[in-house]
Amino acid sequence: MKKHEITMKVNGEVRSVIVEPNDVLLDVLREKLGIKSPKIGCERGDCGACTILLNGRTVRSCLVLAIEADGCEIVTVEGLGETLTPLQQAFLDNNAFQCGFCAPGMILTATELLQKNPTPDDDEIKEGISGNLCRCTGYQPIVDAIRTVSRSGKSGGRGKSGRSGRPHE
Ligand code: FES
Ligand code: FES
Repeated sequence: MKKHEITMKVNGEVRSVIVEPNDVLLDVLREKLGIKSPKIGCERGDCGACTILLNGRTVRSCLVLAIEADGCEIVTVEGLGETLTPLQQAFLDNNAFQCGFCAPGMILTATELLQKNPTPDDDEIKEGISGNLCRCTGYQPIVDAIRTVSRSGKSGGRGKSGRSGRPHE
């Protein structure tokens, strides 16, 4: 199969990589670029574990071909900053993850939610994260964490310098 070189801006860094036409972006990020926060879950768009920001919008990277991301900007939790964002801190403070498998996708989904709607009510939070599955927490601590940031008036997005939450690899 013919290989292609694609170039993406990943967490602020321009990265070029050789891919095959059927390579999935999730696999390329993890295996070729060493970015492990997007998780391999269902691999069919159902669980949200592989969520990333692609040109500022959340996508399920298991459903995107790598060649489709040529020229795009990608952000994963590793790229949110060198210190914790207010939202990441709120997840920690509220024990909003246990095994951590869902956390990167959940945090990116909540980041996008708070960018679109800085003061969501609980129903809007639940709706916003409804596509991200968590097998551990029962969701309430996650909703609490997002509500904390919403009420604080702080951005849920990038911290000053940001540090990655990198739970499971
Ligand atoms: S691994 Fe992509 S949605 Fe589940
Ligand atoms: S903390 Fe384990 S899946 Fe959410």
